[in-house]
Amino acid sequence: MFPLRRNRRLRTNESIRSLVRETSLSPQDFMFPMFVAEGSNVKTEIASMPGIYRQSIDGTVKEVKELWNLGVKAVNIYVKVSDTLKDNTGKEAWNKDGLMQQTIKAIKDAVPEMIVMPDVALDPYSIYGHDGIIEDGQIINDATVDALTRMSLSHAQAGADFVAPSDMMDGRVEAIRMVLEEEGFHNVGIMSYSAKYASAFYGPFRDALDSAPKESGMEVPKDKKTYQMDYANRIEAIKEAIDDVNEGADIVMVKPGMAYLDIVREVKDAVDVPVAVYQVSGEYAMVKAASERGWLDHDKIMMEQLMCIKRAGASIISTYFAKEAAILLNK
Ligand code: PBG
Repeated sequence: MFPLRRNRRLRTNESIRSLVRETSLSPQDFMFPMFVAEGSNVKTEIASMPGIYRQSIDGTVKEVKELWNLGVKAVNIYVKVSDTLKDNTGKEAWNKDGLMQQTIKAIKDAVPEMIVMPDVALDPYSIYGHDGIIEDGQIINDATVDALTRMSLSHAQAGADFVAPSDMMDGRVEAIRMVLEEEGFHNVGIMSYSAKYASAFYGPFRDALDSAPKESGMEVPKDKKTYQMDYANRIEAIKEAIDDVNEGADIVMVKPGMAYLDIVREVKDAVDVPVAVYQVSGEYAMVKAASERGWLDHDKIMMEQLMCIKRAGASIISTYFAKEAAILLNK
């Protein structure tokens, strides 16, 4: 008696394995999230994210050129502005000469083909570190959406290819789409953070931008659970993604990555637009910390995670590993 099916035959050596491999990974699958600081010649490593820096526009542009040469074709931009520019309205977010707007211009001037996707959310501009405007201790939806449309328009005017709302307010994709259309920005796309969970995996990011929710003379919610999703939920993620597609999103995103790959697959099967996945700061920090201790093999873990995110259904992966992974893939 012999086994009728010898599945191991297709695993005999690397040549046959590569011939039947179902998923592939390449530098153009990645987007790189970048943290921009005010000033010039500023480059500060984020303590909980080794290898990731908060840098001024000069350094950011330099790194964008490196990324382009490695085959990475998109960047996500986050800014850290000084506290004096923060208030409860977030109005610095749509200052046409603001840090984000200057960064977008500088990148597009230096590398015109690089897809620039600025983050659209009020938290870097909010004295309370929340993604929306606060009234009576609540994050209010519709006034926040209005602010987000102004912010998005200013990004488009600065030259952004896409805007990427990460705030989780209701109706913001449609409102942003309308304003972009009315102002003639028909080809500026929207990548919506559709299924964004209230996650402790964002810890290091909030350190990077100093954007953790905080009281500042007014009592405010200590977490983002009234707008970001409950991680116990699955059906709600599909609803969010479908709503965003119907409102005009060109790309929908699931965030975080690794612990949410079931959601990635379900969203992928439910929508007809590309799905992006954000492998977030805490996921990056865990790999760095464990490999620094010699507990995990850094490069192997990095590649396995990225490939598995792709296998789950991601067309695009926003990852702090973009540069390191691209270097390995180009070897
Ligand atoms: C906020 C925003 C967050 C991240 C991206 N945009 C943090 C938050 O929601 O508090 C997290 C990204 C990461 O952890 O890498 N608009």
